[in-house]
Amino acid sequence: MRSLSITLSLFCTGRKIMQRNASQSDKTVNEDKLNHFIAQMLGDLGGASSIAMVRLGDALGLYEILHTNGSMTCEELAKAAKVNERYLREWLSHQAASNYLAYDPKTARFSLPPEQAMVFANEDSPVYMMGGFDLMVAMLENQNKVQAAFKSGGGVAWGDQAGCMFCAVARFFRPGYHNHLVREWLPALDGVVGKLESGAKVADVGCGHGWSTVLMAKAFPRSQFVGFDFHPGSIEEAQAHAEMHGVSANTCFEVGLAKDYPGTDYDLVTCFDCLHDMGDPTGAAAHIRKSLKPDGIWMIVEPMAGDTLEQNLNPVGRLYYAGSTMICLPTSLSQEVGAALGAQAGEARLRKIITLGGFNHVQRAAETPFNMILEARP
Ligand SMILES: C[S@@+](CC[C@H](N)C(=O)[O-])C[C@H]1O[C@@H](n2cnc3c(N)ncnc32)[C@H](O)[C@@H]1O
Repeated sequence: MRSLSITLSLFCTGRKIMQRNASQSDKTVNEDKLNHFIAQMLGDLGGASSIAMVRLGDALGLYEILHTNGSMTCEELAKAAKVNERYLREWLSHQAASNYLAYDPKTARFSLPPEQAMVFANEDSPVYMMGGFDLMVAMLENQNKVQAAFKSGGGVAWGDQAGCMFCAVARFFRPGYHNHLVREWLPALDGVVGKLESGAKVADVGCGHGWSTVLMAKAFPRSQFVGFDFHPGSIEEAQAHAEMHGVSANTCFEVGLAKDYPGTDYDLVTCFDCLHDMGDPTGAAAHIRKSLKPDGIWMIVEPMAGDTLEQNLNPVGRLYYAGSTMICLPTSLSQEVGAALGAQAGEARLRKIITLGGFNHVQRAAETPFNMILEARP
């Protein structure tokens, strides 16, 4: 009721402005449509305002403490987290108003419901979204560079992106890989798990911080994995992750371009959420084809997308188009060729590139709401 009255009063102001401008335009405003749109904008601005609030909760360990302890009063949480109680009360109020925390007015206690814990506290849950919040900040920080690129038509190199965009990307994608890669995606590829179990040679191209490489190396200790990425900082992080997870013996990481990394006779080449970021994805496809054994497989994990704009006018498409504008297009346009596929390339365009690279068989092996997994064979 409250939000409706806000939108109606906004509508009245809007109508006055429209009447004042009547001579300039014959467009009439539909009251219901305006109310719906204002309600959407309130939701959108509320979501945007939550970025800093959610990251505060993450950085200060507030979600974690609530997750571990169950319901708490503001005083109890302030003591446990060693934070100022007055600031915390404001934060808790925002979280309750956002439906991120539950609030019991009878006891003045706040709690993190199990569903919200999957999003904010459990790093291994398939819907852990803290990386998404980090990504929003990286995109915002990158605005000036991308804005200049809109004018020049040039790119913004991956290594020149603002803040730790690489960390945000790695954190954003990790839950999906953790939950699906070894259990679902690799078994969906014809004969691949058998080869990995007995000892295969694998290249993870565009590996970033190497979470995908580490997960595969842990699951298949008899296989050898090499991660390539053209960003030296990411390769250093990937090496650190491999050491941290005890898989240094069967992994190594090297700075390398997708279209000329070293090595041949790979049984499997993987590309996780990176083909569309490359300047020359067709050149990369051709090189990957040459680096594979005759019966080798290329696994391409790409953002889920339909082939037309209409098919992508949904919440997932909305997020990916934003990421694509701020990160993926600038990255591709900063490289040779600058194909600028975009994060919502869709299966038909991807197939064309994969086929141009010399692969004769391409099929969709698996999918989630966020990713499509393509299997390509020579
Ligand atoms: C969106 S990130 C994905 C990283 C990682 N695969 C993951 O899923 O977390 C894209 C990655 O592609 C890498 N990349 C982009 N163009 C490349 C190229 N031409 N050759 C090698 N790596 C490239 C970037 O450095 C970045 O690490």
